[in-house]
Amino acid sequence: MSKRNTLCAIDVGTTKVCTIVAEVNEGGLMRVAGVGLTPSTGLHKGLVVNINEAKESIRESVRKAEHASGYKIETAYVGVTGRHISARNNRGVVAITRNDRLVRSDDLKRVLQTAQSVNLSNEERLLHLIPRGYTVDGQEGVRNPVGMYGFRLDVETHVITAAISSVQNLVKCIRAVGVDIDDLVFEPLASSEAVLSDDEKEAGVILADIGGGTTDISVFKNGSIWHSAIIPVAGYQFTRDIAIGLGLPFEVAEEMKRKYGSVMPVYEGGTSDTDAIAQNGHSISYQGLCDVIRARVEELIRLIMLELPRNEMPSLVPAGLVLTGGSSNLSGIDVLGREIVRLPVRIGTPVSIHGISDVLQDPAYATSVGLLLWGLKPKSAPSWKTSMFGSNLRNLVSRIRRLFK
Ligand SMILES: Nc1ncnc2c1ncn2[C@@H]1O[C@H](COP(=O)(O)OP(=O)(O)OP(=O)(O)O)[C@@H](O)[C@H]1O
Ligand SMILES: [Mg+2]
Repeated sequence: MSKRNTLCAIDVGTTKVCTIVAEVNEGGLMRVAGVGLTPSTGLHKGLVVNINEAKESIRESVRKAEHASGYKIETAYVGVTGRHISARNNRGVVAITRNDRLVRSDDLKRVLQTAQSVNLSNEERLLHLIPRGYTVDGQEGVRNPVGMYGFRLDVETHVITAAISSVQNLVKCIRAVGVDIDDLVFEPLASSEAVLSDDEKEAGVILADIGGGTTDISVFKNGSIWHSAIIPVAGYQFTRDIAIGLGLPFEVAEEMKRKYGSVMPVYEGGTSDTDAIAQNGHSISYQGLCDVIRARVEELIRLIMLELPRNEMPSLVPAGLVLTGGSSNLSGIDVLGREIVRLPVRIGTPVSIHGISDVLQDPAYATSVGLLLWGLKPKSAPSWKTSMFGSNLRNLVSRIRRLFK
């Protein structure tokens, strides 16, 4: 596949693997050429737990996308999530020492490098270093300082790191199916590209991607990411609670949840609250099903909101909460969200891309579509790819030094 005019995304989720191939024209417009969807195996809470199984799911998804698009996939943007990821804000500062005191793009690189020097353990590596804003000689809120005059340049960054071993397992699976990695992208960042508006990011908003194994949270303020976190509770736990609470096999509980599940006390489809619902020979009370789901979802939304100080919520995130991921399909989840959060709550469906098949118009594909959009963005700050390269280079240099010693 020619890298110049095609882009590919692979979202290896806990419940499904989604591969998308898109063509990009000279004006940067994208057209989806093919989608490959397959249920995922070998993953738990966003992490690879069985390499062979995960590899086979990815292989199948890639094969389907290649078949649908007619392209051979050689490289892809790949999503990464899980509790091994941590995020923090960090500051970098450099002096502008040249006589003309003009900030140049080299100074931007230098200041980002200083912000990168967070204390990483041997098991961690940088996934993203995202500049949130620059300060030139005390003047805050500068978006692009290049061309400005100053003595001192500061940068505020959001630093996202990941456990090397967890990421290596995922990378191994992708490479094993003959696909190289353009870059690894923290999944909530990808989802945000697909479902949040610039206005929401500017005003302040929480994005929660409630998937199968994890709920990925990112908070945006003043146009850039401000906080991120992973909660290991999502659709899988909802289904497990239904299965245990109502005495159903897991698969039946999953089908019931998808077909009838609602967090509202009264079913909009007309079933009265005393009605029994049946699936594969199992019968349960509709009200019982909704009660279990409502309790779990309510708990999860409260956990999401604990990420921010309650009394500062209206000023920090006036645009409220955007729910995405497959589990945000639960009927009434936005209404329940508004009751709890007392701020705007909406469901985030991915923006439509030209040529996109209808199947992607579902919150479950926010990350997949977002990975493609991420791939289109110009890159300036360090990422996994560059940090891998950097560390490989450092290792090489230190090995050569040792040789000469
Ligand atoms: N209509 C629906 N009603 C309720 N739940 C749904 C519905 N459709 C999908 N889900 C749930 O969404 C979850 C899958 O969401 P998604 O595809 O976003 O997860 P994933 O990306 O595979 O996993 P993760 O991002 O956690 O690794 C499953 O738990 C599934 O039960
Ligand atoms: Mg997902």
